[in-house]
Amino acid sequence: TSQYSRDGSGRVCVDGIPVTELAARFGSPSYVLSERTFRSRARAFREAFERALHPLGVDVAVYYASKALLTTAVVGWASEEGLNVDTASGGELAVALAAGVDPARIALHGNNKSADELGLALREGVGRIVVDSLAEIELLARLAHEHGTRAPVMIRVTPGIHASTHEFIATAHEDQKFGLSLNPAREGEDAPALAAVAACLDASDALDLRGLHCHIGSQIFAAEGFGQAAERVLALRETVASRWGAVLPEIDLGGGHGVAYTAADEPRDVGAIAADLAALLAGALESSELPAPHLSFEPGRFIAGPSGCTVYTVGTVKTVTVGPGVERRYVSVDGGMSDNPRPVLYDADYTAVLGNRVSEVAPVLTRVVGKHCESGDVVVKDVYLPGDVAAGDLLVVPVTGAYCWALSSNYNWLPRPGIVAVGPDGWSREIVRRESVTDLLARDTGIADPVHATT
Ligand code: LLP
Repeated sequence: TSQYSRDGSGRVCVDGIPVTELAARFGSPSYVLSERTFRSRARAFREAFERALHPLGVDVAVYYASKALLTTAVVGWASEEGLNVDTASGGELAVALAAGVDPARIALHGNNKSADELGLALREGVGRIVVDSLAEIELLARLAHEHGTRAPVMIRVTPGIHASTHEFIATAHEDQKFGLSLNPAREGEDAPALAAVAACLDASDALDLRGLHCHIGSQIFAAEGFGQAAERVLALRETVASRWGAVLPEIDLGGGHGVAYTAADEPRDVGAIAADLAALLAGALESSELPAPHLSFEPGRFIAGPSGCTVYTVGTVKTVTVGPGVERRYVSVDGGMSDNPRPVLYDADYTAVLGNRVSEVAPVLTRVVGKHCESGDVVVKDVYLPGDVAAGDLLVVPVTGAYCWALSSNYNWLPRPGIVAVGPDGWSREIVRRESVTDLLARDTGIADPVHATT
């Protein structure tokens, strides 16, 4: 069930707590996160794939893609719900470790990991390092030697899938920076993915090749892409077994499961996606001599996105004539592209509702905009909001749990909002403190620093 309701006075509540109360206590704008929703989406994802794949003898592991939203509290919830954690930098890895996640349940990703990041992963004993290039395989083998350990490795392959999503978040077609292609660049050559397997097997005293990884993109609704990717990666696993006699125990199919931002989005039920994959896999397993692989997944947005919303306060309201007899109402809020750059970056659509009251006044087509010095600073492009929306009203923009705080900036020196978590038993607390201008100024070492001031 949804975390949203309206109380007797028409105020939007998150798990029973009115947003007016949250804004009064924690300030505006704030990200508000429902712990119950986050946990139940994490659990639902894991259980759907377990239910579909266990009957085939396939073990399932779910890695929460922490890039979507990472704080120690959030990663703790994911871990308590039986998920592992996917990290994509030394910083993300450090947060997961600080949250007390067992290193064996952490994965490290990235197309350009530094020797320091790889060294940290080796020292801490992370469960898997997903390698992304031949150069990285060499570097990691050398570092593992130096550390006197054997690094657990997955190879990220690019299966050549054109998933229908925004170009900037599609990642399995050939012409981009991630992964090792399944197709040879020139005739007579091995595919880069095969060359990577050979390199890992050659360095087997330092590298423990656990399996293959692919990620086809993000905010994907169609099941076909996942199925095609799985088929291609399983075929590569067959090739590796027949060529080198190596049976790779694991396949990771990445994340990318879409969520509904507005009523126009119709994501398929996660149970149906899991069932489709199981059907496809049943065929592939039957026709294979190899033991079934373990399968893992890396959902980020699916879990975090719908768990969060942003609460803004309305400031200026302006009606602009945009053509003969055509008007558009602009409602400005106290945040914008600094706390949610997704509309600017990906043309992403959101919706908004009046949060502090209900209104009988007829709705008006409205553009909700931020307070930044850019005309592209849009929060919600088109939404019908009551005609009497005025300064001081609260707007709630749902589905901002993923890739909003994570992508936030201090543009125009706006301090970043805090993240308020509403707990299952009606308490609320800030799990990331709101920034102040003082916080930001503390990092400005210019004029306050005599050395810099005089040179
Ligand atoms: N695994 C890998 C290797 C990834 O690169 C990603 C996302 C995920 C898993 C998680 O994908 P998800 O389940 O969240 O779709 N900033 C963009 C999204 C970038 C996604 C990057 N990689 C956005 O706001 O739409």
